Amino acid sequence: MSPGERVPTLNGTFAGIAEQEALARLVAGDLRIEGRLADASNATMYAVVGGDEGDLACVYKPVTGERPLWDFPDATLARREVAAYAVSAATGWNVVPPTVFRDGPLGPGSVQLWLQQDGADPAGAEEVVLPAPGAGLIDIVGLRHVEPGWHTVLEAEDGGGRPVALVHADDLRLRHIAVLDVVLNNADRKGGHVLPGWSGAVHGVDHGLTFHCEPKLRTVLWGFAGSHLLAEEREVLGALAVDLEGALGELLQELLSVEEAVATLERVQRLLTVDRLPRPRGHRTIPWPPF
Ligand SMILES: Nc1ncnc2c1ncn2[C@@H]1O[C@H](COP(=O)(O)OP(=O)(O)OP(=O)(O)O)[C@@H](O)[C@H]1O
Ligand SMILES: [Mg+2]
Repeated sequence: MSPGERVPTLNGTFAGIAEQEALARLVAGDLRIEGRLADASNATMYAVVGGDEGDLACVYKPVTGERPLWDFPDATLARREVAAYAVSAATGWNVVPPTVFRDGPLGPGSVQLWLQQDGADPAGAEEVVLPAPGAGLIDIVGLRHVEPGWHTVLEAEDGGGRPVALVHADDLRLRHIAVLDVVLNNADRKGGHVLPGWSGAVHGVDHGLTFHCEPKLRTVLWGFAGSHLLAEEREVLGALAVDLEGALGELLQELLSVEEAVATLERVQRLLTVDRLPRPRGHRTIPWPPF
């Protein structure tokens, strides 16, 4: 580690489980597939890691199940998931649930802690209950029902021709996700990729389409576009830049490529220089469908 570099603390809690404990169990547990997440476009598995402490639910995305994409190199999405967790962990914002890269029944892939519902025991449950998409902070509502203080991202018509708005709350937890997405260059921040945690926490999942060198930010969180960084965000991004010049940057080079690791540092530096969240540029800046 270079002089002055912060050591990320990794002392978050995700769905009632301490980050360090989750990481240890995800890495070392006996990984068993329980089912496939029906709507997912890649082979996204609902799984458990077994061990002395019992089963821990997780999402297993084997590299072999990745559908080829025109704009991202093949067989790289699982590592992007892990790299996104590493950057999130360095911010201390606890956005991305603990995620590791390891071997499993369908070969190597990403394994991420499942965000179980508050008080639920998913390992013993008959049916998998998905956390509420949008965490109550992102929604599609009738045009006349936009709540004061909420940001309208897009106005459109629903299937029946009624005017509707894609909206999100003016909420600090969503802002953290929006800032992180700029750093990650996230091309897939749908409402359904924002999920509730415990005690009011809000998390982000599905970070396979991140870290491309070209601008690809595609998000439903444009309500913060153009706003000045908050003092706390500047502080976190300043520390993140230091991390990216050291051990975190080296980790990203291993998981991604040298170019993508450098581009990540440059996005952080640009954010700090411009001191504002970017505005949408180009076409297809909102993921479709948005949930
Ligand atoms: N860590 C998690 N905890 C709880 N639920 C999760 C987690 N990760 C994903 N999910 C749920 O599983 C769904 C599918 O996961 P994800 O979006 O990561 O898969 P995907 O294969 O990339 O799907 P798609 O291409 O359809 O977006 C999510 O929309 C969410 O409802
Ligand atoms: Mg998804």
